[in-house]
Amino acid sequence: MAVSGRFITFEGGEGAGKSTNVRMLKDALEKLGHVVVLTREPGGSPGAEEIRKLLVDGAVDRWDSMTEALLHFAARRDHVARIILPALSRGEWVISDRFADSTMAYQGYGHGIELQKISKLQALSIGGLKPDLTIMLDLPVETGLDRAGARGDEESRYERMAGGFHQRLRDGFLDIAKREPERCVVIDATCALEAVHDAIRTAVADRFSVVLT
Ligand code: TMP
Repeated sequence: MAVSGRFITFEGGEGAGKSTNVRMLKDALEKLGHVVVLTREPGGSPGAEEIRKLLVDGAVDRWDSMTEALLHFAARRDHVARIILPALSRGEWVISDRFADSTMAYQGYGHGIELQKISKLQALSIGGLKPDLTIMLDLPVETGLDRAGARGDEESRYERMAGGFHQRLRDGFLDIAKREPERCVVIDATCALEAVHDAIRTAVADRFSVVLT
């Protein structure tokens, strides 16, 4: 399938403020007249949303690490095939709240699955599809977990994971960004919302040569 749209992903640990910022970026791009598909993982397609329920709720040790990674990739494959690639082939912008870097960070760096195994699963399930730009919202683990806890939503399975898990995945995201600087932009998410949004607008403007207001 020929791909002519733009693909932006947002990544980060718990409570980094992704959902607010993806909506603000969508609004800014729509003001320029672009068609924007806002989606998320795990989920984003009807089948993947069903799989999401198995992942974000219930006992922390509900799955062994590899089963969990396979569930994320099963959801992602469906999401890519049914939502992301069709939108990109129509020339639309796709913004996804999380994508494959989350599996590398959470199941790889966090749970300790060998990173090469995650890369192989990724190639098997979605081929070479990569975002054009990945915004990584970074903040200290405690700040993020406090914010996420204050939200009080039901989907808390990952928030409840302990034992340095969240620090490992934060370090993992920063490591991924260091290895792929042409794709990834790290933004300090402890700043005020407007400052974070400004930094996101600048990253998008630089990457795609658009002027965002
Ligand atoms: P959300 O809270 O950003 O909607 O994401 C749900 C949880 O799923 C979040 O705690 C991170 C986790 N997750 C993974 O562990 N691996 C993945 O590949 C993805 C996409 C999410």
